[in-house]
Amino acid sequence: VQGVGPSDGDPVGAVAPAGGARQYRTDDQLPEVAALTTDNETSLDAALSRARAAFVADHPASRQAHEWAQRSMPGGTTRSTLYYSPFPLVMQRGTRCRLTDIDGHERVDLLGEYTAGIYGHDNPVIRAAIDAALDDGWNFGAHSLTEAKLAAVLCERFPSLELVRFTNSGTEANMLALATALLVTGRSTVLVVDGGYHGSVLSFAGGGTPLNLPHRFVVTTYNDADQARSLVRAHGADLAAVLVEPMLGSRGCVPAEPGFLAALREAATGAGALLIFDEVMTSRMSSGGLQLRQGIIPDMTTLGKYVGGGMSFGAFGGSRDVMSVFDPRQPGSVPGAGTFNNNVLSMAAGYAGLSQVFTPDAATALFERGERLRHELEQRCAGEGVAMCWTGLGSLMNVHFQREPIRCATDIAPETERRELFHLEMLENGFYLGRRGFIALSLEIGEKETSGFVDAVTEFACRHRSVLT
Ligand SMILES: Cc1ncc(COP(=O)(O)O)c(C=O)c1O
Repeated sequence: VQGVGPSDGDPVGAVAPAGGARQYRTDDQLPEVAALTTDNETSLDAALSRARAAFVADHPASRQAHEWAQRSMPGGTTRSTLYYSPFPLVMQRGTRCRLTDIDGHERVDLLGEYTAGIYGHDNPVIRAAIDAALDDGWNFGAHSLTEAKLAAVLCERFPSLELVRFTNSGTEANMLALATALLVTGRSTVLVVDGGYHGSVLSFAGGGTPLNLPHRFVVTTYNDADQARSLVRAHGADLAAVLVEPMLGSRGCVPAEPGFLAALREAATGAGALLIFDEVMTSRMSSGGLQLRQGIIPDMTTLGKYVGGGMSFGAFGGSRDVMSVFDPRQPGSVPGAGTFNNNVLSMAAGYAGLSQVFTPDAATALFERGERLRHELEQRCAGEGVAMCWTGLGSLMNVHFQREPIRCATDIAPETERRELFHLEMLENGFYLGRRGFIALSLEIGEKETSGFVDAVTEFACRHRSVLT
């Protein structure tokens, strides 16, 4: 291919990390909160212009890399979630809970790879498991011992899992869980939730996306048990599945009220439909997911993210009855193929992570650390008297710029510009998080990092009080 590569201006090769760039973080020291401005800025526009200009000035290499990437990927990205304006940062390396971008800025990583990075960036146990797997070679086109060990740990921990199958992503896990539910029930309608996200072709925020799978979806409001019950009644005879996240993850970390999940459980059973919990994000809420913590057990569960130890991963499973449709020994079984379903890196990293690092005790400790952080953030924001609140559960949380309570997707004020300002200023202060204000703590995040973040958020609230009320 002509005109591509380092000779054509590969910015990664051409631009050395800026030696003189501001160092936001050092390994052993939290920085001062950057002196962004001393005035209490009275206009959101003015504050945003300043923050954008500072971001652009501080990240010439990321900007150049992004421009170069646009030549060969739409919008310069192969993963839309990672795009934000003015341009997304490009990272050079990750160490423990810190990320360094190609302009040389080091930050505390509070995003935790949108929950897939629970082990941080270079956990030695995961590294050793991957090294050992590589030592034995890869691409066997055969079983290894590790996949059954990983399956066994998952079935031991998650109450709904008697049998499990692996995939390469959470999206694929949900696609297959739905296909399985349609097959075993012989029905075709699926009840989902407004704001639910189950992958790039199963996204139900604001009416869904044109890429969604062509199933017959019926959409209910999150945490509205009456509406869900009446939709199940209306579609019951053809209802194959109810697919729900036990906490809306991508859509702002909105926890399900226990009554809502209980109502779904009862209604699905009554209609003869399968209740599927998408625990791709929430599986970290205990050793056995949010289902174990809340005591509501679905018929099927989907998993992904960190469960593969940071490698590509997805899984779906359920009762022996349901999952036996994939048993190749059974006459009429369906073929659940997938070249990389048991790839040795995901299996080895996943098993090592669950068996040695993300133990049940570690899961409890992480949940509690997250709860403490969210309560502290809530208190500080309330103390500053600003319209800022934090939703979430355990180690997953999201900021919102409003005072009104949030129980479903449409309760969330978009507040795009305030989210942008918050994001850019947190980046400037040395904290990496999602543009939508999303945080997923990794096991590497400690008290020093969380208290530094609480201070940065408090400063932000104080500095921008006039545009946050
Ligand atoms: C709840 C939930 N389900 C499914 C997915 C899709 O997983 P993947 O990105 O691995 O396809 C995600 C990803 O963010 C998710 O949050």
